[in-house]
Formats: sequence, structure tokens, C-alpha cells
Amino acid sequence: MIHELHAEKVLDSRGNWTVKAYVNGISGTAPSGASTGTYEAKVIPTNQAVKIINSKLQRLVGEKLNQAEIDILLESMDGTDNFDKIGGNTAIAVSFAVFNAMHKSKKIIREIFPFPLGNVFGGGAHGGYTTFQEFLSLPVKAKSIYEAIEANAELHHRLKETFRKKAKVVGINDEGAITAEIDDLKALDIITDTAEDLGCRIGIDAAASEFFKNGKYTYRSLKKTLKPEDQLDFLIETAKKYRLIYIEDPFEENDFKNTAELTKKIGKNCLICGDDLFVTDERRLSQGIREGAANSIIIKPNQAGTVSQAYDTVSLAVKNNITPVVSHRSGETSDSTMARLAVLWSVPIIKAGVIDMRVAKLNELIHLWNMAESPKMADLKNMK
Ligand code: PGA
Ligand code: ZN
Repeated sequence: MIHELHAEKVLDSRGNWTVKAYVNGISGTAPSGASTGTYEAKVIPTNQAVKIINSKLQRLVGEKLNQAEIDILLESMDGTDNFDKIGGNTAIAVSFAVFNAMHKSKKIIREIFPFPLGNVFGGGAHGGYTTFQEFLSLPVKAKSIYEAIEANAELHHRLKETFRKKAKVVGINDEGAITAEIDDLKALDIITDTAEDLGCRIGIDAAASEFFKNGKYTYRSLKKTLKPEDQLDFLIETAKKYRLIYIEDPFEENDFKNTAELTKKIGKNCLICGDDLFVTDERRLSQGIREGAANSIIIKPNQAGTVSQAYDTVSLAVKNNITPVVSHRSGETSDSTMARLAVLWSVPIIKAGVIDMRVAKLNELIHLWNMAESPKMADLKNMK
């Protein structure tokens, strides 16, 4: 039963306030995005979210501690499609806290572990010079969670050295990724060579809605502006040249058609993943399935608003052979709920960062690995 529910505001990794909910003394904290999709659950001001939990949501006290039931109550107390009234940030904080309170006594023991997809280099809305938002490493050769986490960390270390030698200005952005004054393709040259030495394959999150204006995609540092059909050719060429294993949001968030075209052309060897395209929403994923747009989906529970809605989207994806990738946001805390969700749901990939406070998620994966009897890394099928 829920005996006690309250909320407080806490700082996130960007130094912004976010909402932390406590259920029976166990917490859950809402993350937040910078390159958010238009169709995500609504985010309301943190003060308001705290107030709603400490007043209106007190009617949850006395209810059974049951994820599905509480999540449905949250949806019905809001009454809109997108948590317009109580806020998706409010809902996910409570939903995470319920999840953690339930699993405090019922430990998560699973044998299949996700490969960490690590953001080692970046730009776009998270800070940096490149137009692509994230340059991601998948340690496909790793045999254990330790090897996988270490490969990404080692790649981050090596790249920091290399970029310091090859670029004038080098830094770290919102997600702990390295930034350097260099163009997207030169960055890929450097990252791919170093990654392959460590048994990692490379992918990108283009986050294309962020650089789509007036019908065109503008690459600042490459000094080119592409029509959608040219963006398609450019991505196919780039994927082949750098053996990309993963491309997230290759087109703006409404372009199912070109995403489908890209999936048809290179989807056999590359995950084409929808983040802003699907926003962890079953209806948008259903449209993607009908149109053949993407063969992978980002699962960000706060885009949906509750753990149960995120899980329904994972189930729909798995039934349709769409690879789910559970993901953090660019604004995070040391909350590690998403690592437990990824293991519980046996998803093959988790995008959780490489350094700084993001290690809370990675360290939780290590803990769950050590609690399992004979843990194994997920089967990446033909991705090695
Ligand atoms: P966000 O970025 O958390 O800033 O939305 C992450 C992503 O686009 O995958
Ligand atoms: Zn994304």
C-alpha cells in the first residue's frame, strides 16, 4: 500500500530544478530533455509539479502499491492525452517512485543485459560544434557488462587525447560527451578508427528536427544545406563509409516517409531509430510499423509519462521486431531507475551516457549483473 507520498525539488545535471517524488520513503526523479520532441508528454514548472504531488495526488495514499493501477490513476486524474494538466514530469516522478518502492523488497533478477550505447562525442542542442547531436559507441564485442562499460569509458579517454591534439577547442557537453571544433565527418573519421580498435561500432543521433528549417537540413560546420532527398543520400553514404550501426532521428519528427526509405535502403545492417519520431508513444509507433519507418525505437519513460505506458510501447516494439533502446535524457540526476527498467524488460540496448553522474545508471547495471546467476549480454543478432 502507499502509506506516504511527497515531493521536493532537486537540481539536475544542468543545474535546473526537477521534481523528486517519494513513495514510502523511496524516490523517483524526473529527467528532462533539451532536444525534446513536439509530441512528448507536457513538462510543467517544477514548483507546480511539487505542489500537485503534495496536494492533488495525495489521494493516491491508501491505494495498493501496484504499478499498473497507480499509472492508470495518474492518467485518469490528469484526464488528457499528454499529461497536459498534472505534467509528464510529475507523473514520471511518481511512477518511478512506485516502481522503486515495489522493487525494494522484490529484487530484479534477470539474465539478459543491455549493451550500453555511449555518447562519446557530441554537438547540436547539447553543446558543441557538430550538427549531429551524438556520436555513439556500441561495444559489440563485449562479453560482460564490465567489458562493455570499460570499452566505452576507454574510448572516451582516448578520444579526449586525440581531439586535444587535432582540434583547437575541446570541451564536455550536457551529456558528458566530448566536444571539439571540428566538422561532423572529420569527427567520424577520428571516432571510427579509435572505436574499432576497442571492439566498438559507431552510430549517431542526428536529432534532425533540431537543424531542419524551411524544408531543409543545414549542416553548419560542413557548410551545406540539404533537401530531404539529399539528406537521404548523404546519410546512406555516411552510413556506408563509417559502417554506422545505428542512426537515430535521421529526419525531422514528422517525416515517416523518408525514415521508411532509409530503413528500406540500409536497415538490414543498421538500426534506424525513432526518438522524436515516436516519443515512446504506442500510436506513433503503430504508424511507424504500418509505414515501415524505422526498425528501432528510443524508450524514454518521461516522454510517455508513466512506466506502464513506456512498457506497453516496448511490448508493441518487440512484437513487431522493432529494437527498443531505453534512454536517459540530457538533463539527469543520479536516479538509476531506467537501468533497472532496461534489465527488467530485457531490452538489448541502453543509452545512458559514459561519464559524470550518468555512471549511476552504469553502476546499477553492474550491481544487477552481480546479482544474476548466469548473466549474459543480449543477442545483437547481425550487428557485430
Ligand atoms: P534530450 O536528448 O534528452 O535533450 O531530448 C536526447 C536525445 O535526443 O536522444
Ligand atoms: Zn535522440
